Amino acid sequence: MVEPVLSVRNLQVSLRSRDGSVNQITKDVSLDLMPHEFVSIVGPSGSGKTTLLRSAAGLRPPSGGQVLFEGTPVTDVPKGLSIVFQEYNKSLFPWLSVGKNVAVGARELPVDEKNQKVSEALAHVGLKGFENRYPWELSGGMQQRAALARAMVSDPSILLMDEPFASVDALTRNHLEDVVLALWSESKFAVLLVTHDVGEAIYLSDRVLVLSARPSTVLAEVKIDLERPRNQIGTRSQARFAELHAEVLERVEAAGRLAVGIDGHVD
Ligand SMILES: Nc1ncnc2c1ncn2[C@@H]1O[C@H](COP(=O)(O)OP(=O)(O)OP(=O)(O)O)[C@@H](O)[C@H]1O
Ligand SMILES: [Mg+2]
Repeated sequence: MVEPVLSVRNLQVSLRSRDGSVNQITKDVSLDLMPHEFVSIVGPSGSGKTTLLRSAAGLRPPSGGQVLFEGTPVTDVPKGLSIVFQEYNKSLFPWLSVGKNVAVGARELPVDEKNQKVSEALAHVGLKGFENRYPWELSGGMQQRAALARAMVSDPSILLMDEPFASVDALTRNHLEDVVLALWSESKFAVLLVTHDVGEAIYLSDRVLVLSARPSTVLAEVKIDLERPRNQIGTRSQARFAELHAEVLERVEAAGRLAVGIDGHVD
């Protein structure tokens, strides 16, 4: 039987505010990510999506429940798990060249192998020849591609991404989605992606999970039965894409309505 590469079981995270009050962020979140599966998480702002990713990566200890990476409880960022955050301008080291930034992801390899891997990773994301540039010499989209190359260079079995394309323009965003899809189809890693963009979630994923408002649970799981390989125009213009889009959007909006009552009070 195939085991999940990541298992989140009844995850509960409570955080203490500065005034000392305790906020329950996730109430009961469970998910299994199978090897080479592409799963997206959507949900209202503040529903704990980033918190969930941080716990999955071992960066935020759960208050209850468990996170397992390849069957082992997660206590620190596991080897084999890479993360790409939203803010590309904060995720690369400005004092290191693009090549050296990417090499950080492969720091445990012998020099020759490391150089080889860095070149391959940069070529994969279309940044061949940019090794010696500094992050601030690149456009936002290029910086995010460099961050992706750094995440990929260690051959992870899971890639976690928290709104990785939120700060780039629509055309660059589409292009970056396709860079991720190409990397994912050529490799064996699984992806857990947090996004606000329902169309993006559907375009990329095998499954989309909808989180409720805080304290969050998984409200719905929508299987994305669109054939692969996908492409921006062909896939997005299919009738089935529109149906799935309406279904996921309806569930996200329901999650938002559950949080705010008719009189506008938050439950
Ligand atoms: N360190 C912290 N201490 C206390 N509360 C926090 C802390 N970090 C986040 N929160 C609160 O936890 C809630 C969930 O935050 P989180 O960033 O996980 O939500 P999100 O779903 O990623 O939101 P968004 O869609 O806006 O990115 C928010 O209300 C936030 O204010
Ligand atoms: Mg977030």
